[in-house]
Amino acid sequence: MFEHVDYYPGDPILGLNDLYNKDTRAEKVNLGVGVYYDEEGRLPLLGSVLKAEEARAKTPAARPYLPMDGLPAYNKAVQRLLFGADSAAVAADRVATIQSIGGSGALRVGAEFVKQYFPQSVVYVSKPTWGNHISIFEAAGLEVSEYPYYDAATGGVAFDALIEKFNSLNKHDVVLLHPCCHNPTGVDLTPAQWDKVIEVVKARELIAFMDIAYQGFGDDFESDVYAIRAAEKAGLSYFVSSSFSKNLSFYGERLGALSVVSPNADEKKLVLSQLKYIVRRLYSNPPCHPAIIAADVLNDAALFEEWTNEVAEMRVRIKAMRQRLFDVLTAKVPGRDFSYITTQRGMFSFSGLTPTQVERLIQDYGIYLVKNGRMCVAGLNTKNIEYVANAFADVLKD
Ligand code: LMR
Repeated sequence: MFEHVDYYPGDPILGLNDLYNKDTRAEKVNLGVGVYYDEEGRLPLLGSVLKAEEARAKTPAARPYLPMDGLPAYNKAVQRLLFGADSAAVAADRVATIQSIGGSGALRVGAEFVKQYFPQSVVYVSKPTWGNHISIFEAAGLEVSEYPYYDAATGGVAFDALIEKFNSLNKHDVVLLHPCCHNPTGVDLTPAQWDKVIEVVKARELIAFMDIAYQGFGDDFESDVYAIRAAEKAGLSYFVSSSFSKNLSFYGERLGALSVVSPNADEKKLVLSQLKYIVRRLYSNPPCHPAIIAADVLNDAALFEEWTNEVAEMRVRIKAMRQRLFDVLTAKVPGRDFSYITTQRGMFSFSGLTPTQVERLIQDYGIYLVKNGRMCVAGLNTKNIEYVANAFADVLKD
């Protein structure tokens, strides 16, 4: 009956977790999946979240169905975080925001919408990008191609090639952009480069689809959404998928959002109606618990401040780990430039390690990285960093 079913060998990122969990070595280190661990190597339960949970637990409530587009208080809070309290587009009722099942769910709902209303559009993703970007858009039936992004020679962005590519695209082709903390490279565009990208997107009538999963891990909540706000100021109609997995440490809650900025309130109404219809056919409506807790944190001034500080703490710790790794590796492997470790931003560092070197780290040291050399710096702490640096130095010598 099922003999014709193809076997799915697993995901290159999530599969690493299974391997890591099975590894019995005490010294093993998980630098694979993009998850923030604290100095003790624990997944944090944020204090702001705990307070919101405790307050809610005092008055336990029933669990109704949410509307197809999710909890209104949550969607409003998302809009404020992404577009700002003074957003003209939000004030003019031009932004449709729906609660989604994580950032992946937002991408899939957006992809379904693109497939339905812009079926000829090709989706261009950065080279490289998060592997699931490609899978999600292809699964919705869209053609996916690449635009130049990472320049291995300089460790920066191949910006001229990117602009040249964007200038060659067709009207309504989709460009998938990472507003901050690019996954997997950690290499971001500068504000001036974003301005240029937005200018070209506008001139060529491309569709910008901005995927932000790391707001707060670059500089701060506001600076990290420069691209999103610049696009609004430029008058673009565009998509934003966002996630609370990392910055609220809400991984398993699966909480994100899809926002679509439309030219006017009438078109927004049309778009929102279709987003709801897509949701109805995919999973009907989203879960209430994570949205209630996130809304409580984001909508309460004291809890929001506490959360802001907690995200700052995570960011500062990651930066300190980058600096430490840079210092140790520079001392251990003289003559090699490790400055990329401290210039890249967010959770990830694109280490430049080859698949063979990564394999050696996994086999010989129990240090898990993605095959493309992406390392989750947030898995480092003061106890394992020397071990990791020594192992890196060792595989780099070969
Ligand atoms: C990652 O890139 O590691 C995270 O976004 C987790 C995932 O689902 O791949």
